[in-house]
Amino acid sequence: MTFPHRHLLDIERLSLAEINAILDLTERYIEQNRSPNRKSTKLEGKTVINLFFEPSTRTRTSFEIAAKRLGADVVSIPVEHSSTRKGETLLDTALNLDAMHIDALVIRHPENGTPHLVATQAKASIVNAGDGTNEHPTQALLDAFVLRKHKKSLKGLTVAICGDISHSRVARSNICLLTKFGATVRTIAPPYFATKNYDNLGVTNFEDMKEGLQGVDAVMMLRIQHERMAEGEFAVSLKDYHQRYGLDAKKLAVAKPDAVILHPGPVNHGVEIVSALADDPRHSVIREQVEAGVAVRMAILDLLLSR
Ligand code: CP
Repeated sequence: MTFPHRHLLDIERLSLAEINAILDLTERYIEQNRSPNRKSTKLEGKTVINLFFEPSTRTRTSFEIAAKRLGADVVSIPVEHSSTRKGETLLDTALNLDAMHIDALVIRHPENGTPHLVATQAKASIVNAGDGTNEHPTQALLDAFVLRKHKKSLKGLTVAICGDISHSRVARSNICLLTKFGATVRTIAPPYFATKNYDNLGVTNFEDMKEGLQGVDAVMMLRIQHERMAEGEFAVSLKDYHQRYGLDAKKLAVAKPDAVILHPGPVNHGVEIVSALADDPRHSVIREQVEAGVAVRMAILDLLLSR
């Protein structure tokens, strides 16, 4: 199919057919990445810049590997080396990079809507690598890929997203994608992390993990996003939080026996999940998510830059 979008800013504006096309192409790149001939020349001559204003291990590295595997030139600019440190606005920084005849600018920024703002003025394709509490579209796409692989179809699945929902761009993008495909999404969160933002999508919040996890096909655990809270805002001890909202074998026992556990990372072992489950090959698909992260970002760069 011809991909009609110049940018990837959110899940909202992608159709089911477009998401399926991304996931099908991801499958091809998974195969390519597993083969000895990982590298292609598909995007030879193209230039991709990674501009990250927040820490990242998985997303930044996988965009860089994805661009290189497709033969593109890639430059990653950590925030401490960008001129925003000298008073330049984010928009100025982004448009100066855009003026260098680049093809894609991958942006992560703590403020909601930053990639969308840059996209209104840039000539390059803008890819949202996470904007504040708003969206993380490539994370939801790689999560969908892994879920589809394990469960064959997203339609009819029941997925619980558990933890710090209110600060989570991963939750927003996943809820948007999964409900588009006919999955039922539950959130499990204490009142201080719950939100009514997804009521209109049919999402129900559970305060009790045993109720929320009853019969689910998949559970997605989220870390507490301390960096998005004011000092002292999170007033519960991590021990108490773990007791009520940390995933362990006892709490998981009410899910379907073949339930899979996802986590976007970084994982805080012993807080939102015990290590024994995060590393349990019978349930955990966390490393598969990381593998899919490279392939899904290859698919996105391919579709945007081959247009
Ligand atoms: N999932 C995710 O965005 O991880 P990073 O913060 O390491 O990129």
